[in-house]
Amino acid sequence: MRLAGKIAIVTGTSPNIGGGIAEGLADEGARVACVDVLAENAEHCAAWIKGRGGEALGLTGDLTDEAQVQAMVARVREAWGGVDVLVNNAGILGGLSVLEMPLERWTRQLAVNLTGTFLCTKHVARLMVEQGTRGSIIVIVSTAGHQGQAGNIGYCTSKSGLLNFTRAAAMDLARHGIRVNSLTPTATDAEEGAERAVAWGRARPDRRGRLLDFQKMVPTGRLPSPRHYAKAAVFLASDDAEMITGVDLRVDAGAIAKYWPWIPSA
Ligand SMILES: NC(=O)c1ccc[n+]([C@@H]2O[C@H](COP(=O)([O-])OP(=O)(O)OC[C@H]3O[C@@H](n4cnc5c(N)ncnc54)[C@H](O)[C@@H]3O)[C@@H](O)[C@H]2O)c1
Repeated sequence: MRLAGKIAIVTGTSPNIGGGIAEGLADEGARVACVDVLAENAEHCAAWIKGRGGEALGLTGDLTDEAQVQAMVARVREAWGGVDVLVNNAGILGGLSVLEMPLERWTRQLAVNLTGTFLCTKHVARLMVEQGTRGSIIVIVSTAGHQGQAGNIGYCTSKSGLLNFTRAAAMDLARHGIRVNSLTPTATDAEEGAERAVAWGRARPDRRGRLLDFQKMVPTGRLPSPRHYAKAAVFLASDDAEMITGVDLRVDAGAIAKYWPWIPSA
């Protein structure tokens, strides 16, 4: 129970990565607020954690709206008294090339991925400062934030922005004893998210074919699952990481370290 007594907020709690991280934090003893713009993602995730014997709250809100973020943080404070851990996971994936991307879609993707993370960090960190909490804030990035992916201009831009948001916020908050780190996932094995959806009482999601053969390109020969990200998030959230701030922890099966022309499976 590495997070016993800790209170965590996880945003974007679909059955995939956010749900996996919320479950992983709860399994280590944290009380978890599951926050999503889709009420069913917030509610199902919280119900699942409670069903496993944990403590959870499901909160619905759009994280691009400052008033809704403030209300969400106030609700967690009212329920449990404060916040120790924030995982900024909510995001809009996918996109188009710079030639095709409509302004409206670009603006929304940057608003959720960047501004949503900024607003949650701002209001959770203000509460931590007020209460003298030596908290941990985690920002979920992507290997697409480290590299230029074709056909994904808004996603790549916002995720690389989050890498330096993390460092800058870590500097702003260091004197308050609040740590800010990012966690980089990569193309994720779809099986665990599908199983979690079924466990939450939903239909098994269709496996959509991927344009790129990630499995063939990844050095370990196996793609990570949400539970692997959850273990890294538990570490960053825990006191074991008390001297770690401003870093990016890649849980990418070696993807970013790879010499680009090498095809491991060849
Ligand atoms: N799936 C992958 O292969 C992969 C790889 C690298 C990084 N990531 C990152 O991991 C995170 C989760 O990815 P996922 O695959 O679980 O995606 P997902 O689409 O299953 O989950 C994202 C969640 O964010 C929520 N959300 C969207 N806009 C919101 C808003 N305005 N306010 C509150 N919630 C909002 C969605 O409703 C959804 O539940 C994202 O930040 C993504 O960029 C995913």
